[in-house]
Amino acid sequence: MEKTAKLPRVRIHPAPVRIMHWLNVPIIGAMLMSGWGIYNASPLFGFLFPTGLTLGGWLGGSIAWHLAVMWGLAANGALYVIWGLWSGHFRHDFLPVTPRSVLKDTKLALTLRLKHRLGQYNAVQKALYLFVLLCGLLLVLSGLSIWKPVQLHYLVAAFGGFDRARYVHFFAMSGIGLFVVIHVAMVVMVPSTFLPMITGSVKPSVKREQRKITHD
Ligand code: HEM
Repeated sequence: MEKTAKLPRVRIHPAPVRIMHWLNVPIIGAMLMSGWGIYNASPLFGFLFPTGLTLGGWLGGSIAWHLAVMWGLAANGALYVIWGLWSGHFRHDFLPVTPRSVLKDTKLALTLRLKHRLGQYNAVQKALYLFVLLCGLLLVLSGLSIWKPVQLHYLVAAFGGFDRARYVHFFAMSGIGLFVVIHVAMVVMVPSTFLPMITGSVKPSVKREQRKITHD
């Protein structure tokens, strides 16, 4: 009989993180797709997003989607940040992270030698999660500048003008897009991380516990 059969499951992702994380997926998807529809009406660069990847059907429809779903993103994002700061989740799970540790773990990940311990983020993950939080903050601030440029003229000025705020919005969106691609690729590389992000817990394994002991 397995030695771990009677051990309780180990909780690694609290319910608020899981709920807000999975709510974020359709919200970010809708924000990206409606945003691409708005971009196509007045492109900043010499390309358009494929119509099939846009949401809303026409400029008015895309704006309606963007402004409606934006409230979901704002509420979910604000709750996540407040909860992350209040519970100590950001401090305990996303920090410390140094350029050196990110470089080391990136090299290990690229050579498929990076060990993943469920319930503990490696330096690449920590850096990516902090990066996506920063992109989210920039997206919201630049988005507010574009949405209400008259009322929030001081915010527009902080970005160096309306046109620059549009570029910041675009690049922050690209940062989120890049994050999603790398993030999903990492989940595909370590599929055992997927189910615990839904259920919240893992079965303790003797092997994992031993590895923890030797590393801690
Ligand atoms: C759409 C945008 C997404 C964003 C912004 C996002 C963001 C994040 C963040 C910030 C975390 C850390 C959560 C925390 O501990 O507070 C996380 C974890 C995780 N995400 Fe996502 N995510 C996204 C999409 C996805 C998708 C599509 C998948 C499924 C393929 C996924 C699977 C996971 C898993 C499995 C973890 C836990 C990783 C681990 O335990 O090592 N995420 N995500």
